[in-house]
Amino acid sequence: MNKNYYITTPIYYPSAKPHMGHAYTSIVADFFARFKRIDGFNVHFLTGTDEHGLKIQRAAEKNNTDPLLFCNEISETFRNLSKTLNLSNTDFIRTTEDRHKKTVQHIWSQLEKNGNIYLSKYSGWYSVSDEAFYSEDEITDKEGNKIAITSGSVVEWIEEESYFFKLSNWEEKLLDYYDKNSDFISPKSKKNEVVNFVKSGLKDLSISRMAFSWGIKVPNNTKHVIYVWLDALTNYISALNYPDTNDELYKKYWPASVHLIGKDILRFHAVYWPAFLMAANIPLPEKIFGHGWILSGDEKMSKSKGNILDPLDIIKIYGLDPLRYYLIKEVSFGNDGNISIDKLEDCINSDLANNYGNLCQRVTAFAEKNCSMKIPSNKKLNNEDLKILNKFTENLPKLRNEIDKQNINFYMDFIVNALFEANKYFNDQEPWKKKNDKMRLEAIVYTALEIIRKITIMLYPVIPDSIEKALKIFNLKPADIVFETIAAHNYLKTGDDINKISILFKKIEKNND
Ligand code: ME8
Ligand code: MG
Repeated sequence: MNKNYYITTPIYYPSAKPHMGHAYTSIVADFFARFKRIDGFNVHFLTGTDEHGLKIQRAAEKNNTDPLLFCNEISETFRNLSKTLNLSNTDFIRTTEDRHKKTVQHIWSQLEKNGNIYLSKYSGWYSVSDEAFYSEDEITDKEGNKIAITSGSVVEWIEEESYFFKLSNWEEKLLDYYDKNSDFISPKSKKNEVVNFVKSGLKDLSISRMAFSWGIKVPNNTKHVIYVWLDALTNYISALNYPDTNDELYKKYWPASVHLIGKDILRFHAVYWPAFLMAANIPLPEKIFGHGWILSGDEKMSKSKGNILDPLDIIKIYGLDPLRYYLIKEVSFGNDGNISIDKLEDCINSDLANNYGNLCQRVTAFAEKNCSMKIPSNKKLNNEDLKILNKFTENLPKLRNEIDKQNINFYMDFIVNALFEANKYFNDQEPWKKKNDKMRLEAIVYTALEIIRKITIMLYPVIPDSIEKALKIFNLKPADIVFETIAAHNYLKTGDDINKISILFKKIEKNND
């Protein structure tokens, strides 16, 4: 079995500082990366910034700075956010790096050599904000402006000499590929949209611009810069040192397991990218997953709309792990969702502080008083104990499987339910009334500790910092944990020390008026 896993986020535009939408994709990608790691995979996790094109050039001009200096500064805020979000990314790529430029020019030459590029003239609508071309039927009038219907961004007319990619040649092959690889475009609900777009007929794609200079030059014609999306998409393989196909990274991690993106950029990833790759004879990624949007009111949160929420503000008030937990659990993955501070506070109070944190405290405090702070005996587990422990064993294959379908909701529901049952189990068993039946008391405490261990492992990809603290109960470190051990009933060794830990989550005082 292939035990290598390569996950990517979009490379973000450093045209303005990051917002909650960027944090969302990155946190979810980190969840998958961490899950796969504890499940025994070698994981490569890539994120970065997309620094060329007119959008960035104009943003730099507006700030009266040179585009590279401008990018240096804002790219750094994205890199810092990765640290603040505790991302376990193994690389951070900037498209202004030499390693990337070389690969893009190589791809261009490959496409040209294979007869997929010709020089002609482009005239049509272009959105600088989306860095996208739109046809007449994709635009509309709004307050005297022409705007793209899907994104609402202003389009402008361009007319210039341009190189074209023969996208029209790849229509059949793309449809055939979608057909044979039914999960390539996920979730299912987004697939039709792409299939219909391709079926409606693909026009050749303009892939170079002359009107500005901020980009990677076309080999052998430096009057043109390469279209920023051809440039940007290539990051996924330039980071693996393509075209050196003997490079360890490329051999291990290409094709990617999943490109995680927002649905706003599905067309680029599910149509253009596979067409470029096929035309350059490079294998296609296994999956493109387009998640929904974080909304602000009814609208997509975006820097061009100015309705953004700064993740740093939330983290300052509530801490990182509550935000991670909230985004992973409450935003139904694949659908759009509003951010609600009220719900975030509920997550902290009920799930994290009460159901998880308090369970850890209660059980360890009880073990301290009644089991001399040692893992008690597990010789006499009864059917009730085994039943609750078996839930994990029985569900392990399903949990893995659902994660491979990016079904985060299944995974989180399982945890929430397990926490509910664990608390109920401890209450119902009333170990405090079993002081005369040492065997039974020990079996209950052992079972409760085993359940805490299993849930703690499962929560690691969600709230890694807090879990590092919780693992101290069992003298474990994040590097020790293996997902598969949630199936074991007797992982904890009788007689081993248990440790006390400090409070994991503080409750929030809520104003309920
Ligand atoms: O599109 N809700 O960069 P970008 C959820 N550079 N996710 C959101 C979001 C929201 N409101 N807003 C942004 C680009 N995102 C290109 C990508 S990839 C080769 C090039 C997330 O800065 C989501 O992942 O506009 C979305 O696809 C991405 O940020 C767009 O970031
Ligand atoms: Mg965008």
